[in-house]
Amino acid sequence: MEGLARLEYRGYDSAGIALVCNDHVEVAKKAGKLANLAGELEAHPLDASSTGIGHTRWATHGGPTDANAHPHRGGDSGKLALIHNGIIENFHPLKQELLEQGVEFTSETDTEVAAQLLSRAYDEAGDLTQAMINLVNRLEGAFTLLAVDADEPGKVVAARRNSPLVIGLGEGENFLGSDVAAFIGYTKDAMEVDQDQVVTITKDSVDVVGFDGTPAQGKRFEVTWDAAQAEKGGHSSFMEKEILEQPHAIADTLLGRTDSDGALILDELNIDPERLKAIDKIIIVACGTAYYSGLTAKYAIEHWTRIQTEVELAHEFRYRDPVIGPNTLVVSMSQSGETMDTLMAVKHAKELGALTIAICNTYGATIPRESDGALYTHAGPEIAVASTKAFTSQIAACYLLGLYLSQLRGGTYADDARSIMTELSEVPAHVQTVLDGMDRVREIARFMADSRSVLFLGRHVQFPIALEGALKLKEIAYIHAEGFAAGELKHGPIALIEPGQPVFIIMPSHDTPHDLHAKVVSNIQEIRARGARTLVITEEGDEAVRPFADEVIEVPKTSMMMMPMLSIIPLQVFACELATAKGLDVDQPRNLAKSVTVE
Ligand code: F6R
Repeated sequence: MEGLARLEYRGYDSAGIALVCNDHVEVAKKAGKLANLAGELEAHPLDASSTGIGHTRWATHGGPTDANAHPHRGGDSGKLALIHNGIIENFHPLKQELLEQGVEFTSETDTEVAAQLLSRAYDEAGDLTQAMINLVNRLEGAFTLLAVDADEPGKVVAARRNSPLVIGLGEGENFLGSDVAAFIGYTKDAMEVDQDQVVTITKDSVDVVGFDGTPAQGKRFEVTWDAAQAEKGGHSSFMEKEILEQPHAIADTLLGRTDSDGALILDELNIDPERLKAIDKIIIVACGTAYYSGLTAKYAIEHWTRIQTEVELAHEFRYRDPVIGPNTLVVSMSQSGETMDTLMAVKHAKELGALTIAICNTYGATIPRESDGALYTHAGPEIAVASTKAFTSQIAACYLLGLYLSQLRGGTYADDARSIMTELSEVPAHVQTVLDGMDRVREIARFMADSRSVLFLGRHVQFPIALEGALKLKEIAYIHAEGFAAGELKHGPIALIEPGQPVFIIMPSHDTPHDLHAKVVSNIQEIRARGARTLVITEEGDEAVRPFADEVIEVPKTSMMMMPMLSIIPLQVFACELATAKGLDVDQPRNLAKSVTVE
């Protein structure tokens, strides 16, 4: 239950456990959050056991009900139980086959189909590991499966394809989890599981084989953070804690990236610098918040490297026929490193011959492992579903990559790389200053708790911040919110402005070229004249906006490219405070899950 609590952020539509107790398997499961299952177990405790499996679910096939909760039983004897993450794409024909054999189903899930097939495979093979191998060779799609059977007590058999699974190695105990958070309280000694592998653990042994049954070796690694980092530490929510951790998260991401002369060293990438020097096009692929960090980084990377940089939603990219040459670099951004859409985009890019680099926050996750190189953000575990510290750390890491490419290629901006690195290294302190001055933003958020719609305007490198500010509000406060490029206003969105409409304006800094600052001031005037309530985020001392702003939220003065990492902070705090004021669960917003490991 403790392990499940640490994984609950990944999905919280239902929870369940199965324990091997003597000659049978006991199952308890409940729709809703883990607390419901805890209540059920208190009322009806299961027998003592030392082997079991547990699951928290994000519903795909079948709604969030008790019946659809995992584990699912297979066969009639009540001896086998199975849990599953992912989607089994060919479950319809498989279910049909079982129905024709007279199998009765108790749920609408694809998982129960797998449980029934596993039970049949076990009857034939007489061995749970072999039965799992036989089962996975019939499945299409993405899955992590874990099963127990009372005929083989003390054993858990697992399989993975395109869905996360990691092993925890203890003394006289072993663990399997979707991520290390599940067992971090017990061991920091972990082992990666590759694609298409079956793992069998007992308390004293770990055996890994491929889907064809050939023995394989897992790669061991040490988990570098501890259980305390994955706890709230006195904060009202993980989101609040993670917002406040940003100075550290960004600083840690930047740590140790330069040599004594101030030159960038990104050895971690593990890619021949000559190969990187030849890059003539970059495509950044990501989803959601990570996509917005990519959009932000595009402005800086193109400016610093003069390499054409596109940013694309991973789920669009993966089904397109993009123009990719031998010198195209595809950079994926992912906090979890497990997002299915992003993973598939990386695979697509590799098939088309691109060089691939993952910017990721989770060591050993699937996306960095499937990429040619990886650059890790060191933001620490991000538990709240709404991404905050991963976002700012992703921008910092992508900037590092841009500056490194610029350094490798020489040229104008390579000369400036050192001074830009100095600006970047000052960002954590500036973020701390922003965080220290958030009382008024919290007040505004509480005052605006009844808002029905909030708009966000940004321009240049601040445009993606408008999009991210709107996403934060949508996902945790359930308020309609939209972000626009300020220049787009007159092409349509200005029609939305009516008296009282709150609009956040995220100002470009004064040093943004082409006097964009003045152009956005004009935009503020235009919407104010139509009754908008204007909340302006800008650099300190910006007198030009004051006459047209209902509220001015200041952030320290810095260069244009560093501004996004400062101006997103008030918007994160605003969303978190407003959702809290509405009495919502900010860490686990409805219908969402932290790691979207299904398509
Ligand atoms: C929003 C949010 C999501 C994720 C997206 C990608 O707050 O967290 O939009 O950013 O699902 O997730 P990762 O970065 O794990 O690939």
